Order: sequence, then C-alpha cells, then structure tokens
Amino acid sequence: MKIVAICGSPRRGNTEFILKRILTKAEELGARTELVLLREKRIEFCNGCLNCDFTGECNIRDDMQIIYPKLKEADLIILGSPNYFSNVSGMMKNFIDRLNPFYTNKKLRNKKVVAVVVGGTDKPNTIKNSIKSIELAVDWTEMSLIGDLYLVGEGPQDIENDPESIQKIDEFTESLISS
Ligand SMILES: Cc1cc2nc3c(=O)[nH]c(=O)nc-3n(C[C@H](O)[C@H](O)[C@H](O)COP(=O)(O)O)c2cc1C
Repeated sequence: MKIVAICGSPRRGNTEFILKRILTKAEELGARTELVLLREKRIEFCNGCLNCDFTGECNIRDDMQIIYPKLKEADLIILGSPNYFSNVSGMMKNFIDRLNPFYTNKKLRNKKVVAVVVGGTDKPNTIKNSIKSIELAVDWTEMSLIGDLYLVGEGPQDIENDPESIQKIDEFTESLISS
C-alpha cells in the first residue's frame, strides 16, 4: 500500500507532526509512504484557463507536475490542513484548485482519501466546515473520503505535547491500515 500525505500548513506545526506520525506508524505496519510539504513547493494559483476541461492536463509548469503522478500512484491520499477561518488553509485550497484536471480526466476516480484537520478550537461549525470543504473537493474528483481526523491545538507543538491527541492519531492510523 502506498500512502501519499499532502501537508497544507505554512509552518512546521501540528499538521506536519500528525502526518509524520501517521506515516511512521503506517510504515511500521507495512505501508510505503511519502510526505509532500506544500510550503516547500512552487505551486502557482490556478489561472482559470480551463484548458484542463478539454485536455485533462494542466498547462502550468510548476511543482504540481511532480505531484500529479504521485497522486495517481497512491493507494491512499491524506489531505492535511490547518483550519483557517473554518476552512482549509489558502495553501491547501490552492492545491485543491489545481486538482481540476482530475475533475475532467477522472484519473483519481475511487481513490481513497483521508482528511486531517487541526484547529485552535473545537467549535462544531468550524470543525464541520473545514472537513466538509475537503469532502466536497474529494466528491468533485470522484474520489472517496474514507475517514477524517480533527484535532485541537493552537500553538505549533500543542498536539505533539498532548498524549491524548497522540493516542487518537495512533488509533486512527491502526484502523486506517487494517481497513
Ligand atoms: C489565519 C488563521 C485562521 C485561523 N482560523 C481558525 C478557525 O477558523 N478555527 C479554528 O479552530 N482555528 C483557527 N486557527 C488556528 C489554527 O487552526 C491552529 O493554530 C492550528 O494549530 C494550525 O495548525 P498548524 O500548526 O498545522 O499550522 C487559525 C489560525 C490562523 C493563522
């Protein structure tokens, strides 16, 4: 099983910690893994040309061209983002917009996806909306959201320093790999 995790946080904080913890555990359980830190990539905004609606390919020559094949090869994609204003981060949203070729070419159809979101609060609406925005993007590309994990942390090391959160991550990973 190949797992590709996409991290949409602009800082080395909670989302990155959670994704690394999931991937490390998944490797122990036999998976092959790769982490993509969007903050280290050069990814332009979608320019709205809609060329991809006709060709199924994106015209923009940037690091998405390296990420597209990784997504196609993955058995499971993890989309990890901080919660920003009850949504995903701008970095993750930009990444999602650049998935538009897959809306047309359907090359990610039935691919399994997991959403991981970290927010500073546990207000129900902020949790619901941030997860929902990933779920809807997954729906548009005809992938399948098989799970979501929402954890609460504000400072960059809050999750790392919280044993309860770590236990949740480990249990979530085990159920993910055994399913
Ligand atoms: C611009 C901005 C907007 C935020 N909006 C929310 C929000 O709507 N709801 C929430 O629970 N936390 C919000 N937060 C808090 C972050 O989600 C929190 O700090 C989280 O731990 C960041 O994850 P990271 O460490 O992976 O970057 C916001 C933080 C920033 C910087």
